[in-house]
Amino acid sequence: MAERVIIKEVAARDGLQAQPKHLTVEQRIALLGALAETGVPELEIGSFVSPKAVPQMSGTDEIAANLPLAHLTYSALVPNMKGYELAVMAGIRSHAIALAATEEMNQNNIRKSLEDTFVMGEEILDRAAAEGIDIHAYLAVAFECPYEGAVEESLVLEQVDRLMQHRPARLMIADTIGAANPAVVHSMMNKLVDRYGPERLGCHFHDTRAMGLANVYAALQAGVRQFDASAGGLGGCPFAPGAKGNVATEDVVMLCESIGYDTGLNMPKLLEAVALLSEMIGAPQGGRAHTWLSKQSA
Ligand code: COA
Ligand code: ZN
Repeated sequence: MAERVIIKEVAARDGLQAQPKHLTVEQRIALLGALAETGVPELEIGSFVSPKAVPQMSGTDEIAANLPLAHLTYSALVPNMKGYELAVMAGIRSHAIALAATEEMNQNNIRKSLEDTFVMGEEILDRAAAEGIDIHAYLAVAFECPYEGAVEESLVLEQVDRLMQHRPARLMIADTIGAANPAVVHSMMNKLVDRYGPERLGCHFHDTRAMGLANVYAALQAGVRQFDASAGGLGGCPFAPGAKGNVATEDVVMLCESIGYDTGLNMPKLLEAVALLSEMIGAPQGGRAHTWLSKQSA
């Protein structure tokens, strides 16, 4: 049997949060319905953040109350303890928390210092462990920061060590602005997989410099088996100037399946979800292989 690669679909959060066009709650529910149909095992539904900071994500509580019944894990991003509590109240039991590796990125994203962000992250992790909530802890700008430039690998390894002591369900290494390359990805993920094993690690890549898929491949070679991806490559980050979309789910599925891994995703269904997304956003979306993939499943 083919080895499994787990994809978490993040278009409805990382993708939509960066769009100038704000979708309605009804549209977001319809989109999540289409994404659930693809067979993806994990689906991020939105975030419990300040509506002033990210208006695109307001109404995530209403969305949580109207999710399609599907055999998959729904998750949401929470920026602080208030968001954690709101997500739990809404019935979400898998949360993403984002801690940036640099001082400036934390200040810009959640208006906290690096140390305060880590202390808050540790409090959320400890509480979640006691309450049976899974946390995926994201180390954002783990390769390069839009404000501070290149991030030292040794710093990231220390930060991962610190967070792992609080037992996140998964530790995600995030190239928030899409500045990593396969060599640095392989170097870092190889060390982390050696130290922690692949079960608790994952990668989140953006495709700003067209190295998204190459970075996925480098991480696969290092033993990583869990990736975030966004249908149609939708994305960007409102707090990271210049960041482009996530690596496209259809490209990641194509890569993984072409080299013998199983993702469980249905490509025609995924392309249908991308078509719906394009219609809602009012602009064509699609990964690098979109034209070719569309012809294959026509
Ligand atoms: N959900 C909803 N509202 C929240 C909230 C949350 N998780 N956390 C704080 N708030 C509200 C407060 O209740 C307060 O409301 P009020 O003005 O009506 O009294 C207001 O937001 C300000 O609260 P404060 O604690 O001072 O926060 P802040 O203004 O320093 O903003 C964050 C901090 C974290 C809430 C805000 O920057 C944020 O939501 N950032 C999201 C970042 C993000 O999603 N980034 C993208 C992905 S990495
Ligand atoms: Zn991202």
